[in-house]
Amino acid sequence: MNLHHDKGPVAFAADHAGYALKEQLRGRLADTGTPVLDLGTNSEQSVDYPDFGNGLADVLLRGDAWRGVAICGTGLGISMAANRHPGIRCAPSHDVDTARLARAHNDANVLALGARIIDPETAWQCLQTFLATDFEAGRHAARIRKLG
Ligand code: RB5
Repeated sequence: MNLHHDKGPVAFAADHAGYALKEQLRGRLADTGTPVLDLGTNSEQSVDYPDFGNGLADVLLRGDAWRGVAICGTGLGISMAANRHPGIRCAPSHDVDTARLARAHNDANVLALGARIIDPETAWQCLQTFLATDFEAGRHAARIRKLG
């Protein structure tokens, strides 16, 4: 699977519920040679997921990362925060087909995962698929433009 190591860093952000999964996925991805950026959180001490979703969006929109991975308990709260930023398309995905279609049809730039929903191996499969899948453009391009 081509993870596109050459396109730039993949940024990771998580709240306390997503911290452990973030550490696992970030380590596994770094082991493949992909550059990674860790935007926290850095422990299981309780934090607020909007702070991390907002921080991840800022880094992507500045162009300091190519893709983002946002993790909280369900993947929902942190994706809501990220999606409030125009230009961010954050897709909660808990199976490989959704992760693939989030890229192929929605040109998602952030993958959101729920650490309390998904097992780590499935999360890793989702992440690899997300990074390896290209946007199909075509009929999907005009729809993406309407998202603003
Ligand atoms: C934290 O307990 C939990 O609410 C949060 O991680 C997330 O699931 C919210 O959407």
